[in-house]
Amino acid sequence: MDLLIPDKTHDESRQGEALVLEPNGKNNGRKLYIESYGCAMNFSDSEIVASILADKGFETTSDYNNADVIFINTCSIRENAETRVRNRLKEFAGAKGKNPGMVVGVLGCMAERLKSKFLEEEKLVDVVVGPDAYRDLPNLIERVDEGQRAVNVLLSREETYADINPVRLNSNGINAFVSIMRGCDNMCSFCVVPFTRGRERSRDAYSIVAECQGLFDRGYREVTLLGQNVDSYKWSNEVEHVNFANLLEMVALISPELRVRFSTSHPKDITDEVLYTIAKYDNICNYIHLPVQSGNSRILDLMNRTYDRDWYMERVDAIRRIIPDCAISTDIITGFCTETEEEHNDTLTMMDYVQYDYAYMFMYSERPGTLAAKRYADDIPEPIKAIRLKQVVAKQQQNSYVRLQQHVGRIEKVLIEGFSKKSDQDYCGRNDKNAMVVFPVQEGYKPGQYANVLVERCTTATLIGKIVA
Ligand code: SAH
Ligand code: SF4
Ligand code: F3S
Repeated sequence: MDLLIPDKTHDESRQGEALVLEPNGKNNGRKLYIESYGCAMNFSDSEIVASILADKGFETTSDYNNADVIFINTCSIRENAETRVRNRLKEFAGAKGKNPGMVVGVLGCMAERLKSKFLEEEKLVDVVVGPDAYRDLPNLIERVDEGQRAVNVLLSREETYADINPVRLNSNGINAFVSIMRGCDNMCSFCVVPFTRGRERSRDAYSIVAECQGLFDRGYREVTLLGQNVDSYKWSNEVEHVNFANLLEMVALISPELRVRFSTSHPKDITDEVLYTIAKYDNICNYIHLPVQSGNSRILDLMNRTYDRDWYMERVDAIRRIIPDCAISTDIITGFCTETEEEHNDTLTMMDYVQYDYAYMFMYSERPGTLAAKRYADDIPEPIKAIRLKQVVAKQQQNSYVRLQQHVGRIEKVLIEGFSKKSDQDYCGRNDKNAMVVFPVQEGYKPGQYANVLVERCTTATLIGKIVA
């Protein structure tokens, strides 16, 4: 399926990637291979896991055949996400066959969803660890070394790993994810996340600011603040209450040279205060990921999204009013339970109304245990879901192109991230609105610096231009 995937933040369908960190000199002689699937939060969690294990002397490797411990950080959001992980586990079986002392562990959302059932189903798995139990990993590995199989899938109401300074895996030294909260209290009827990640809790605001400051001091120039619903961030101590708008401001004030992004905003919770804060600071990017899921009020009600079509449109109007030049992206589900052709059309007309810059589009996939699985029949046949998805994707491709073309002729401030994929004669980087820009390397400009780029043309996914003084 041809989906538009401009960055790693929202791409839950991302293939696993081996994550590698620099050795830290504490070597215990054991090698860890860690692969991450799913959303940016999983990626960020893998950095926490690597940090916990680096502290115990583990080194990382990018070759699983060479590893003593293989961890796969998993996603349960749709059935095909789980199928992909099961297939990957079969591939690990070969490596374990050759090295019986090897430890294979399943981390993350799938571990949480399937719990000890995993050990019975997948005979090769030795450790199953849910997203709130990563501090226990060294003990669990020890237990496996003693010949047992180990499970910890306890969810916590407090764990935010606030004190753990994540090691950066596969880092370009410029962009980093910073987790600001965990879990979700929303109970959208299609969604497994509240079951796999537990209750919502916000991380100490000062630990977030300290982490971002540390990143900035080490040369990073962009942080993406992560949460399932960042607008419900709330943290207080004896003297102050910090909401998401306040937190954004605190991070933005670290330096005007530090770009601040965030994800995900929930249409029911995004406030004008947040929008005014974005408008006030140049370094808070004009880009909002605002998942609509459906453009029809009856379907939104069945989805338990707690907003309707009018409410969503009003929030988009507010964004356009307060931040006139703001990119908006979204998530869309096609073929949710009982969705009629007319209701599907409401999604298409919503896309016309908003003119999204990007969209992540999915067919509905029933997840066991969710409200929708319990209450409604998954009654839209797969071929119809697929036709609707195709229509949504086609519309988005048009919209994305129109949106990109609007940049042509403009001078954009781009954070240089490195060489372009195709040529080391070109740099690539993103503008404030998260669009990828490619332009010839010019003396005096290095990755991690900003450049003013005149956009001369665009392809369907990339802006192309040149540096101007
Ligand atoms: N917290 C975010 C979404 C996290 S999950 C929010 O509230 O928007 C990322 C996306 O996966 C969702 O926005 C939704 O579009 C999609 N998704 C979640 N569950 C799904 C399911 N059962 N079937 C298909 N897509 C699903
Ligand atoms: Fe899932 Fe809804 Fe929470 Fe997003 S807000 S993680 S879709 S329950
Ligand atoms: Fe993320 Fe997938 Fe879990 S989207 S929160 S890794 S179910």
